[in-house]
Amino acid sequence: MFCTVSYLRMPPFLSSSLRYDTTGMGSPNGETPARMIYDHSARLKKAQAAILEQRKTGPLGWLDLPFDAAMGRRVTNMVTATKKFETLLVLGIGGSDLGARAILQALPVASHKSQVTRRVLFAGANTDPDELEGILKTINWKKTVVNIISKSGDTVEPMSAFLIARERLKKAVGPKFASQIVATTDASGGTLRAWAEKEGYRLLVVPRNVGGRFSVFSDVALFPAAFAGIPIHELLAGAADQIRSFEKEPLEMQIAAQYASLHNEWYLRYRHSAFVLMPYAARLELVGKWYRQLIAESLGKARNRRGVLVETGPTPIAALGATDQHSQIQLYMEGPRDKVVTFIEIEQFASKLRVGKLPAMSSSLQHLENRPLQDLIHAERRATADALTSQRRPNGTLFLPKLDAYHLGALMQMFVLATAYLGEFMDVNAYDQPGVEEGKRRFREWIELRKPEDAA
Ligand code: PA5
Repeated sequence: MFCTVSYLRMPPFLSSSLRYDTTGMGSPNGETPARMIYDHSARLKKAQAAILEQRKTGPLGWLDLPFDAAMGRRVTNMVTATKKFETLLVLGIGGSDLGARAILQALPVASHKSQVTRRVLFAGANTDPDELEGILKTINWKKTVVNIISKSGDTVEPMSAFLIARERLKKAVGPKFASQIVATTDASGGTLRAWAEKEGYRLLVVPRNVGGRFSVFSDVALFPAAFAGIPIHELLAGAADQIRSFEKEPLEMQIAAQYASLHNEWYLRYRHSAFVLMPYAARLELVGKWYRQLIAESLGKARNRRGVLVETGPTPIAALGATDQHSQIQLYMEGPRDKVVTFIEIEQFASKLRVGKLPAMSSSLQHLENRPLQDLIHAERRATADALTSQRRPNGTLFLPKLDAYHLGALMQMFVLATAYLGEFMDVNAYDQPGVEEGKRRFREWIELRKPEDAA
């Protein structure tokens, strides 16, 4: 007989640095979330075994990154080597961009004890000339390091931005410009590596067995984060605990396994094809964009692993609480029953900001007087979740005790693990992106046939 009580008596788990309230995730025919997860036990076990098996030879190097001491030293040494520079210009796209952006937004330097005041700028995630010019014209090249990140070394957006930045850098600082370039690229091949070796750039590594969107805990995002003064060892400690949980803890206790089981049920059985991530924390907005790529590119596939045409994949949506209560929630509450919403709540915000006193007259805003803003954002999240639950619309909440490097590392690693589980349940290769490659191939064909347009 299935029983949840034993869970409650168990000691805290590694994965419990995060908490997942699944109350609103019960099935339309009345199964509790715990029952749904329990019913997934056999599939979870099989998926875990398959992931561990693929770790030996497949593109699952991300499982080992948080424990890679040599990587930590390499990144720290690069920060030391570039410490006299004030600005890091990061050029990358997709998996070579979004992780670092998300980390830097979530952990601004002012929020931790670092004395470092170096700034990190991002570009190269678009070919929009006005955007790039706007960023480049703010740069003092003598005080700037350019970090070009491309695993393949031939992606149009970052590589074209790099060629422009390289020329400006060279013009400003002269023949020693190469010592102000850090190339983060494939360990053994590709155009960028060849240039780096020829021109003498500093080198960081994207491990061969780690794909772009799975590379957040590699040199790719760790160097920009460490350059800005973020304690990357804490980020990695949070990630490592989630991996240990995946390896050692009872499957139903792992947050990643719970998240994946419930989302799989709602997606495959109850045809809810949109996965919404809605953090109630402005600093997590870009984590939403990073999550969106992770789910979309990993699970959106034409064929399953047996080659059968399935045209599958949930549509991830990045929303922001409380802001999008005034934009999206109407749709989630009353629109098509196709969404599974995950909220994120920060239990303890850093700021103790309170609402001030009301002017001396009766007001409909009496209930706000002197309230910490944290109470308001918590109540807004809770009210939205309750409202969705009352309409039998699936929703769950991930709780982080606070938004620091450890818990951010745990959160992001949890989503990576959940994606790997979902890939197994859906029987798709979560690690390739043939649709993206097709676009890249057609772009090349198209541009090669045309003469440059005149920039009058
Ligand atoms: O997840 C992925 O593999 C992609 O999003 C890549 O990161 C993106 O296409 C950039 O590729 P590259 O790092 O080779 O420039």
